[in-house]
Amino acid sequence: MALRNVLTKEDPGLYRKCRLITDFNSRLHQLLDDMADTLRTQSGVGLAAPQVGVLRRAVIVLETNVPEGEDEYIIELINPEIIEASGEQYGPEGCLSVPGEYGLVKRPMDVKVRAQNRFGEWFEVEGTGLTARCFCHELDHLEGVLFTSRCDRMLSDDEMESGEY
Ligand code: NI
Repeated sequence: MALRNVLTKEDPGLYRKCRLITDFNSRLHQLLDDMADTLRTQSGVGLAAPQVGVLRRAVIVLETNVPEGEDEYIIELINPEIIEASGEQYGPEGCLSVPGEYGLVKRPMDVKVRAQNRFGEWFEVEGTGLTARCFCHELDHLEGVLFTSRCDRMLSDDEMESGEY
């Protein structure tokens, strides 16, 4: 297990557009494995390569919408694009690069993404609710966009704790 350091919002690398991945090699696999270890350690639901200092188009998202008794699992998305989005959700969003801060962000309720897997094979995956929010949030990272620039307003600690906002 290898953990990577997660950059925080002061780092200029988080505001840059990431480049396409063209080599689906062991170095990419190591990056994805390290990102998964880092995500689990930090109890996050998504992580993008630029957050660990790699300005390339790779993200991981934890699929939490699983049937009772089944394990949550990580979806790896290389060079991802949103190909369909519908519905709407409005709620609190956070980011491992913006620790302890949450803001209200409007996102689609259902999102379909086309991406490559770690071997370069194209596939499509759908997400709803938190997973859809996460797809949008992580793909934003690849454009150098943080949720703080998309949110209507940040929440106070009281609002987060009470769930009233
Ligand atoms: Ni984030």
